[in-house]
Amino acid sequence: MKNGLFITFEGADGCGKTTQMSMLADYLKSKGYNVVLTREPGAKGLGEKVREILLNYDGEVSDRCESFLFLADRAQNIDIIVEPAVKEGKIVLCDRHIDSTVAYQGYGRGLNIERINMLNNLATNGRKPDLTFVFDIDVETSMKRVGKEKDRMESAGIEFHNRVRNGYLELAKQEPNRIKVIDASKSIDEIHKKVVEIISAM
Ligand code: TYD
Repeated sequence: MKNGLFITFEGADGCGKTTQMSMLADYLKSKGYNVVLTREPGAKGLGEKVREILLNYDGEVSDRCESFLFLADRAQNIDIIVEPAVKEGKIVLCDRHIDSTVAYQGYGRGLNIERINMLNNLATNGRKPDLTFVFDIDVETSMKRVGKEKDRMESAGIEFHNRVRNGYLELAKQEPNRIKVIDASKSIDEIHKKVVEIISAM
């Protein structure tokens, strides 16, 4: 595996990606790699505040406003955390990134996908992840895992989440080299094995 990589973790709420990201971080650290963890929304500092609005604000939020908030947080994450770390040869693992906006705001909310791609490109300065995992799981199982305490996004309904899921699968078809779909209904250990297998080929 080479140094200086940017790897993103994507999928439905409750798909288990955060657990897998943390397991992979431990694995990579045990192999001597320098690993940086980040997330969207809410990388650190200002990003935390944007996250709070996005997940907890209970007034009206327009779909476009929601998109711009995710994008603002993304620009901050790329500039302050991701790019500097990758330049130093570190491996950056990021919980959600550009594909979340395409899946949730594009496929889920129905905003124009070409335009989202353009905005994503602006927010990231054109820097795409070197590798993206999509943890795929059926919506019923993922909603069961999320439980009754749902945040603003998780409360968007079954149909919305089905569109999000299909969005991810569509993206993976379009970019099979970057995006690897993993069956997230398997056991935590089986999924981890698969993740390591894929990453070891890089
Ligand atoms: P979070 O609590 O981080 O969810 P998870 O643990 O499932 O990642 O909440 C992030 C929520 O924001 C999640 O529902 C997906 C959504 N989201 C978007 O709608 N668009 C985006 O661009 C991003 C980054 C996240």
